[in-house]
Amino acid sequence: MPLYTLNINGEKMQADVAEDTPLLWVLRDHFRLTGTKYGCGIGQCGACTVHLNGNAVRSCLMPVSSVQTGAITTIEGLSENGDHPVQQAWEEVDVPQCGYCQAGQIMTAAALLKRNAKPSVNEVVNTMNANICRCGAYHRIREAVIVASKKI
Ligand code: FES
Ligand code: FES
Repeated sequence: MPLYTLNINGEKMQADVAEDTPLLWVLRDHFRLTGTKYGCGIGQCGACTVHLNGNAVRSCLMPVSSVQTGAITTIEGLSENGDHPVQQAWEEVDVPQCGYCQAGQIMTAAALLKRNAKPSVNEVVNTMNANICRCGAYHRIREAVIVASKKI
């Protein structure tokens, strides 16, 4: 199998995997970066969201061979001490219920605020609607994104 050298959370990491292996499984099974979750495997739920060159992507749909030298950031690498403005806002608003969807939600929100630090409520709703929360924490998720936007 080919050996892939990936740039993950600022470190070079190598995985010997088939070229069509989804990035999600490389992160979780090879590098034990288990903050990124498997929800649907078909790009519908957002639980597997990570950043590729600062943009939110669904790692369950991304073959490892397509990543190349792109900079991948997972929830473990979003901040050194869990103090990214989105993480601070999440704590303030007390967003999570079961927590399963939360890494994907936070990564989606962080990518949104990186490209637009002051999104409108509609932009927040439209962007975050793409991430499913089975616990229905949508109101708190939206509130936390707005709170985070005031910190940036
Ligand atoms: S696990 Fe990737 S979008 Fe659901
Ligand atoms: S907090 Fe449980 S799925 Fe979102």
